[in-house]
Amino acid sequence: MTKPALLDQLRALLGEAFVLTEGDLSAYEQDWRKRSRGKALAVVRPANTEQVAAVVKACADAGVSIVPQGGNTGLVVGSIPDASASQVVLSLQRMNRVRAIDPANLTLTAEAGCVLMAVQQAAETAGLLFPLSLGSEGSCTLGGNLATNAGGTQVVRYGNARELCLGLEIVTAQGEIIHGLTGLRKDNTGYDLRNLVIGSEGTLGIITSATMKLYPTPAAKLTAWAAVPSVEDAVKLLQLAHQHLGANLTGFEMMGQFALSLVDKHFPNLRVPLWQQTPYCVLLENSDTETQEHARTQFERLLETALETSCVSDAVIAENLSQARNFWHIRESITLAQAQEGLNIKHDISLPVSAIAAFVAQTDALLQAHVPGVRMVNFGHLGDGNLHYNVQSPAGVDAASFLATYESQVNELVYAAVQRFEGSISAEHGIGSLKLESLPKYKDPTALAWMRQIKRTLDPKGTLNPGRVVSTTTTNAAEY
Ligand code: FAD
Ligand code: MLT
Ligand code: ZN
Repeated sequence: MTKPALLDQLRALLGEAFVLTEGDLSAYEQDWRKRSRGKALAVVRPANTEQVAAVVKACADAGVSIVPQGGNTGLVVGSIPDASASQVVLSLQRMNRVRAIDPANLTLTAEAGCVLMAVQQAAETAGLLFPLSLGSEGSCTLGGNLATNAGGTQVVRYGNARELCLGLEIVTAQGEIIHGLTGLRKDNTGYDLRNLVIGSEGTLGIITSATMKLYPTPAAKLTAWAAVPSVEDAVKLLQLAHQHLGANLTGFEMMGQFALSLVDKHFPNLRVPLWQQTPYCVLLENSDTETQEHARTQFERLLETALETSCVSDAVIAENLSQARNFWHIRESITLAQAQEGLNIKHDISLPVSAIAAFVAQTDALLQAHVPGVRMVNFGHLGDGNLHYNVQSPAGVDAASFLATYESQVNELVYAAVQRFEGSISAEHGIGSLKLESLPKYKDPTALAWMRQIKRTLDPKGTLNPGRVVSTTTTNAAEY
């Protein structure tokens, strides 16, 4: 089938207005960090699962590949088309209904294009909590969260998107529908297809709807901001927080001084506390099942012990909701502050918590020796062993030329260190196309071979988000 004939078919399926081929399509064709810009054959915006299935079938029959897209906030260049003007971007944004809430079963079923914040709000309206929480929650979608197995700032207590998901409705590469919207906590009827598709970044199937776990809303929530002298001390504080708060510990974020200096520079009205006096700060959240007073007493005891043992040099407990929000706003502004400073070499790594201090000390030194003056934007979800260990050009060095010269060397150096410490090169953002070439160097070769076999079996024509996660054009990892 010719491309014009396919476009006619798509228009007939969805209506003229929902097959975009002209005008400014940059919102769909450019990635969030503006690293890359592609050109789509068309952007299609189906309204329901049947339309998604029909579009996928039509494209598969025509041999045209599809790039599923939610909020396009992904950070690994996985949700935009390539430059060939031959791929169809399938935007799920019109599929944004919360289909059902079952308070007795503690579940919510929503369509893939539901913006994360809308899911959180729907749960809140029902008096319950949907705990997934990310800096991009005002624009990322539930489908994108599941396709990337997003993490965020509450994982230490509630887990990743994967742990929050009970059932999925999926459109296959052939345009069939898997009706898997179960709210069951237990279901051992064979292979776990839900978990296969979660984290597959649009390469195995298109998520059209999901049933997610809800939780009772904590009776009280308290946030604290602590200055810590070193990464080692942040890890000691984490251990103390586990001991003192147990399951009430819902957030534990570490932020390096340079990361906070960027927030201070680009968002001066946020008034970052304590950052000038300490190499690292930690943001802690205590979600209590009892009362605000109980949460405060728990926090005070924790921080007293931390001050006595010198793993904290100073700390502030938020006095009210607005101060707590400001603390979170500061943490979540680091990504935007970096974007305003200019592109850096971004890493999203995972390490055993016990190895993080040694990793940072050794890798900081290696990077300084390799590129003197390099600036580390080191921050992240320390409670989960997940660092955003980003490398910014030395002061005065142009970001673009720094990336052009050093990106692959710096990646190799950091990923080799991650491997030595038995970590992972992607904790939460995924592989996309940015890490496609790196993955085979660090993934177990047999596991990678299984991944390729699964991709070939479920998507034999290779039309679902090709060039992302795994390449199927070779069976030999060394050939990349
Ligand atoms: P998109 O960017 O549109 O897509 C991401 C990937 O999923 C692509 O491969 C796409 O093809 C695929 N996809 C999208 N929808 C579907 C679907 N319905 N079915 C199948 N495949 C699909 N990530 C974290 O894990 N933790 C964080 O704390 C975090 N914070 C962020 C903060 C900011 C400011 C930004 C910009 C990003 C952040 N991210 C974070 C990264 C990003 O992964 C998440 O924002 C989110 O999970 C992506 O959702 P999205 O709807 O924007 O997906
Ligand atoms: C975060 O934790 O803020 C996100 O994962 C985004 C980022 O890495 O910049
Ligand atoms: Zn993160």
